[in-house]
Amino acid sequence: MKILITSALPYANGPLHFGHIAGAYLPGDCYARFQRLKGNEVLYLCGSDEHGVAITLSAELAGRTPQEHVDLFHSINLSFFKHLDFSFDHYSRTTWPGHVPTTQEFFRALQAKGLIEERTENHLYSEQEKRFLADRYVVGTCPKCGFEEARGDECQRCAASYEATDLKNPRSKMTGSPLILKPSMHLYLRFDLFKERLAEWIGKKKWKENVIHFAMRYIDELKPRAITRDSTWGVPVPGYPDKVFYVWFDAPIGYVSAAQEWAEQKGEPDAWKDYWLDEKTKLVHFIGKDNIPFHTVFFPAMLMGQDLPYKLPDEVPANEFYLLEGRQFSKSDGWTIDLETFFSRYSSDQIRYAIAANAPETADSEFSWKDFQSRCNAELLGKLGNFVNRVLVFTKQHCAAEVPPRGELDEGDRQFVEQMNRLVELASHCYETFHLRKASQTIMELAQVANVYFDTQKPWVLAKDPAKREKLLTVISLCIECIKTLSLIASPIIPASAEKIWKMLGCIGKLAEGSWDQICKTALPPHQKLGEIQILFRKIEDSEIEEEIARLGKKREKQTMTIPETAPTYEPLKASIAYEQFQPLDLRVAQIVEAVKVPKSKKLLKLLVDLGFEKRTIVSGIALSYEPEQLIGRKVIIIANLAPATIMGIESQGMVLAASLQTSLELPQIEKLPPGSVVS
Ligand code: 2FM
Ligand code: ZN
Repeated sequence: MKILITSALPYANGPLHFGHIAGAYLPGDCYARFQRLKGNEVLYLCGSDEHGVAITLSAELAGRTPQEHVDLFHSINLSFFKHLDFSFDHYSRTTWPGHVPTTQEFFRALQAKGLIEERTENHLYSEQEKRFLADRYVVGTCPKCGFEEARGDECQRCAASYEATDLKNPRSKMTGSPLILKPSMHLYLRFDLFKERLAEWIGKKKWKENVIHFAMRYIDELKPRAITRDSTWGVPVPGYPDKVFYVWFDAPIGYVSAAQEWAEQKGEPDAWKDYWLDEKTKLVHFIGKDNIPFHTVFFPAMLMGQDLPYKLPDEVPANEFYLLEGRQFSKSDGWTIDLETFFSRYSSDQIRYAIAANAPETADSEFSWKDFQSRCNAELLGKLGNFVNRVLVFTKQHCAAEVPPRGELDEGDRQFVEQMNRLVELASHCYETFHLRKASQTIMELAQVANVYFDTQKPWVLAKDPAKREKLLTVISLCIECIKTLSLIASPIIPASAEKIWKMLGCIGKLAEGSWDQICKTALPPHQKLGEIQILFRKIEDSEIEEEIARLGKKREKQTMTIPETAPTYEPLKASIAYEQFQPLDLRVAQIVEAVKVPKSKKLLKLLVDLGFEKRTIVSGIALSYEPEQLIGRKVIIIANLAPATIMGIESQGMVLAASLQTSLELPQIEKLPPGSVVS
């Protein structure tokens, strides 16, 4: 079967966090990996969502052009996915040129059917900023209770909801400039005309109740919606020179253009049609719950309005929110986990497993450090790692490091085999039905059953009695068979460790390229030589977890420098130098792409900086003043021709300049010029 799988395209507007990974991403990757093992033709797509007003505004705040801004976060997010071993067949971006004609064709097909209409309405406009502002960038006085700082869509004091145009004294949230009402023409898509078709289509779906419920509410209230914006950042609207499409019009079309880009890159430009235009394809959208209306109502309506026979989604496994120790992730008050630092401390499988074991499938769920430690130590290491290790070490000692031949099975052995078969079936069912949490429990249940079998059979006792040799070999053979089964059912969630186990069993090739059914059916051949035994999971110490918990919620006090109130002691001026002595210094603007703490050092950060024409690693003593995540994207000045020096075992290829006064330190700010610019 052909399965087209998508994970919601993340905005290239900031680094992804844990909450995102748990909702739309890890479940998608595990599903894709499982379906490939089942022999299906999988096309798993994702990419950066790079348009929209939020991106233009945050780019402006960061002193970057929108393109520089999305380039930066596209590469940061892509590197996160790589760290976590994601298996996308293609990771696209909505600023790739091929996305424009596809979006415009979608529009033209809707327009040709009379589904697009022009409407002129009043919108809030800032004369100072020379732009129309979307509701969430507007504040004003609440028309109901008079609260002066009310938000654009609802009042946070009296909970009244209203149109932003109803606010009194409306102002720009960014600059405080007054807003006026100014008429603007926009194109509206007649979503209301799809009401019946959508209701009938959804009515046949057996999706999660909350997804259906949410979708139905939207369908009931369907109205024409504006699909254009006054901006220059976005996909141009044919025939309307100053307008671009609303980001939620072009983003889901990104799923189609990503498939086209994938097809183009593999040299078969029409291959995307085999997925998108074939009714036998199964289309599965992995999303977070905030994206439900777009994937179950608006995008399907856009697909229904096309001339080409586009697939409509077959499954929309929407997940709930993932919280951090009971609270929403929040960057601004430090209630977050920096993924970069996280990756440097724990393996991708530890992270993947902990998220899967706690996936927010039916209700909001949360990440807690204690839970993370116990998932890694008690489950991955204590149950799975321990079983694999004890069996393989035993086999090495007593069976010449070979898969032993199997004798007659007794009742105990048969029960063990039955349990194995039952749990493989269960794991398969869980993956098929998007129950990742239950799939991870199933892996641990099998590891537990296996440990109990090993303990009750007591192979170390059997080994002492030569008359029990056949029984001993049978027990070990079944245990090795179980290790194989464990690696198979665990591989969608912890792919790197599953491959390691596969190698330890002496199997050739990659497990991920094998077939689920075949691997289940075929026992490992007797006398197959085992590979080298490796450690699978490291133990996480209590002290590490205590440190992580202590770090949480530490507000960015570092950001607010303490400027001494009393007269500071200034450094004495150095002796004067000639201009010729200054001239050889090559000072450049560089942009920080990655920042992580240097282990065992309080002051040092390891930075990866982009000079425009090359990237460099620089070790910098600014860790007491800046958190790594504050620095991503920031432009700094570096000495680019300083001879490399090794600091704490890392080669530092340059030096970052900072101002300092006593214990305070601050990086100079470069607003507009790009990396590589000369500072003199
Ligand atoms: O909510 C989000 O992060 C959006 N960028 C998701 C877009 S999904 C798709 F439609 F592209
Ligand atoms: Zn109010």
